[in-house]
Amino acid sequence: MKRYHPVLVGLHWLVAAMILIALFIGGPGLTALQNDDPAKLFGLTGHMIWGLAIGAFMVVRLIMRLVAKAPPAADAGHQALNLGARAAHIGLYVLVLVMVASGIGLAVSANLFQIAFGQSGAPLPADFAVFPARFVHGAVATLLMILIAAHIAGWAYHQFYLRDGLIRRMWFGKRM
Ligand code: HEM
Ligand code: HEM
Repeated sequence: MKRYHPVLVGLHWLVAAMILIALFIGGPGLTALQNDDPAKLFGLTGHMIWGLAIGAFMVVRLIMRLVAKAPPAADAGHQALNLGARAAHIGLYVLVLVMVASGIGLAVSANLFQIAFGQSGAPLPADFAVFPARFVHGAVATLLMILIAAHIAGWAYHQFYLRDGLIRRMWFGKRM
C-alpha cells in the first residue's frame, strides 16, 4: 500500500484548510469583535457551522482511517522521530476533537445554539470569558497551532532532508 485511501487524502486537505482558516482567521476575527457588536452574531453563527463541519469531517476521517488499509508507518531514520510522528498524528486528532467539543461546550453554556440557530432574539452574554469552556477553547487553539507547526516541520524534514517524497502518500494516485 503506497498511499492513503482517496477519501482520507481529500478529507486531510479539506480539513487542514478549514482548520487553518478557523485558527488564524475565523477565531481571532471573532475575538476582535465585542459581544454587543451587531456583526458578532453573524460571525459567531458562521464560526459555529464551520467548526461543527470540521468536527463531522474529522470523525468520518477517523472512522475511515481505522477501517481502510493504510501505508506502513513511515521511517524517519530514528526511533524517537518515528514515535514522535505517531504521537503527533494521534495528538492532531485529539486536539481537533477537543477544539470541537470545547466549542460545543461553550455554545451550550452560553446558550448560543438557541441564540444563533433558534433566533431566540436574546442578547449574547456580555463576555465569554466567564465560561470555563472558553478558556479550554483558547488554550487548545494555541496547542493545536504548535502541533500543526511541528507536523509541517516533519513534512519539511522528509521533503528537504530525507527527500523521500512522503507527501505522495497523502495525495491521489495508484495505491498498489
Ligand atoms: C492543518 C491541519 C492538519 C491536520 C489536522 C493534519 C492531520 C494529519 C494526520 C492526523 C495525519 C496522519 C495520517 C492519518 O492517520 O490520518 C497526517 C498525515 C500527513 N500530513 Fe497532515 N495535517 C494537517 C496539515 C498538513 C500540512 C499543512 C501538511 C504539509 C505541508 C501535511 C502533510 C502531511 C503528510 C505528508 C502526511 C503523511 C504522513 C505519513 O504518511 O506518515 N499535513 N496529517
Ligand atoms: C476545530 C474547530 C474549531 C477551531 C479550530 C476553532 C478556533 C477558534 C479560535 C482560534 C478562537 C479564538 C480563540 C482565542 O482567541 O482565544 C475561537 C473562538 C470561539 N469559538 Fe471556535 N473553533 C472551532 C470550533 C468551534 C465550535 C464547534 C464552536 C461552537 C459550536 C465554536 C465556538 C467558538 C466561540 C463561541 C468562540 C469565542 C469567540 C469570542 O470569544 O468572541 N468553535 N475558535
